[in-house]
Amino acid sequence: MDRIRIVGGNKLQGTIPISGAKNAALPLMIASLLTRERLTLKNVPELADVNLLVRILGNHGVDYAVDGKRNGGSQHAHTVHLTAGDIVDTLAPYDLVSRMRASFWVVAPLVARMGEAKVSLPGGCAIGTRPVDLLLMALEKLGATIEIEAGYVIAKAPKGLRGAEISFPKVTVGGTHTALMAASLAHGHTVIHNAAREPEVVDLADCLIKMGARIKGAGHSTIEVEGVANLSGAYHTVLPDRIEAGTYAMAVAMTGGDVLLEGARPELLQSALDRIEETGASIDATNQGIRVRRNGAGIAAVDMTTAPFPGFPTDLQAQFMALMTRAKGTSRITETIFENRFMHVQELARLGARIRLEGDQAIVEGVERLEGAPVMATDLRASVSLVIAALAAEGETIVNRVYHLDRGFERLEHKLSACGAEVERLASPG
Ligand code: EPZ
Repeated sequence: MDRIRIVGGNKLQGTIPISGAKNAALPLMIASLLTRERLTLKNVPELADVNLLVRILGNHGVDYAVDGKRNGGSQHAHTVHLTAGDIVDTLAPYDLVSRMRASFWVVAPLVARMGEAKVSLPGGCAIGTRPVDLLLMALEKLGATIEIEAGYVIAKAPKGLRGAEISFPKVTVGGTHTALMAASLAHGHTVIHNAAREPEVVDLADCLIKMGARIKGAGHSTIEVEGVANLSGAYHTVLPDRIEAGTYAMAVAMTGGDVLLEGARPELLQSALDRIEETGASIDATNQGIRVRRNGAGIAAVDMTTAPFPGFPTDLQAQFMALMTRAKGTSRITETIFENRFMHVQELARLGARIRLEGDQAIVEGVERLEGAPVMATDLRASVSLVIAALAAEGETIVNRVYHLDRGFERLEHKLSACGAEVERLASPG
């Protein structure tokens, strides 16, 4: 298994191109199941999760082709073509779905277009129990019958789905993606209450609209969908990854330096940028992206609470905690989305961080210095928080289980080393 070696202490200086968003690319690729025609997606990141989804979609009969283009010379920007001419199988098996939670979302387009789906209950990052009850509730409201048998969800709607009122008791991104895709091909009118407002939901809705869906209100808490009989192909560009941008912004706030996050859009992560500024970094929106600088000043301790968009994203919580490990003073970090998303705490402690857990809060007492050590993480964002801490630690850190990073960060070691960090991948023997 590959590892990453980091020797901390260097400031970051230069430009980091921001990739297409993983969490937008995945539902967009799944939306290809809704139509017989070709869906072309530009700016799809090259990630392990994307490759796994290609295999899952291939199982259903989706034809996949890729153009390896370069964008502006500095960025891989893959254009992919997905054509679900004939769905050959409505089964999504355990061995594939158990590896990535988002793949469960295929249930919606399959039942909407084919009237049936049999999809394994999902897996994914170990960050909490992560049930799918709300996704199934949405499909039931739209008229599907749901049975759970031997670890599989069997959804059926032989006469098609029909529009309905769906009220989510809590904000769910996957639930909103599911409702949007299913309602787009349902008969009649659907209203989704308490919908997720995340930019990735808006990106999916924008693409569905290009495919012929009639959706109003994406980006607001109430979304209305007027079902159509068929959707067509479309051409869509995946939005830039706000979590990747926020991660590198925190890396710069941690090490000091001056980096342009090329292609990043501040409005996609304003609450995170606000918190980073409070820690003492300066943030400027430019017409090329977001410029992040910290020179001289230390890192101020800032409290933070995660919340659904437009609040501070849970997917940046671990990275912010890494930044706070070097702050002057104590910060209180509250996680409200997932109940078990603090696995990075004990790994950050290996580097010398002082963090105490109290229920859904982490109390981080900033320390003068971190020291390199071997670490490993159990989820994607936790892994990258260790990278951020390692960049500011004295000496060498080895991050094990790099496959977590490969799930969500495109060419991480190249992007960081191009800005002066001492980072390299150590390939596993054999
Ligand atoms: C998406 O997961 C993201 N994944 C996650 O990013 C992200 O952390 C999360 O949204 C929140 O922003 C992708 O987009 C692929 P949710 P999702 O449904 O849709 C509870 C990453 O690191 N819930 O919004 O699965 C759930 O347990 C990943 O890239 C139910 O109770 O998250 C959680 O507490 C990790 N029942 C809350 O809702 C349900 O049926 C929000 O989850 C569904 C969710």
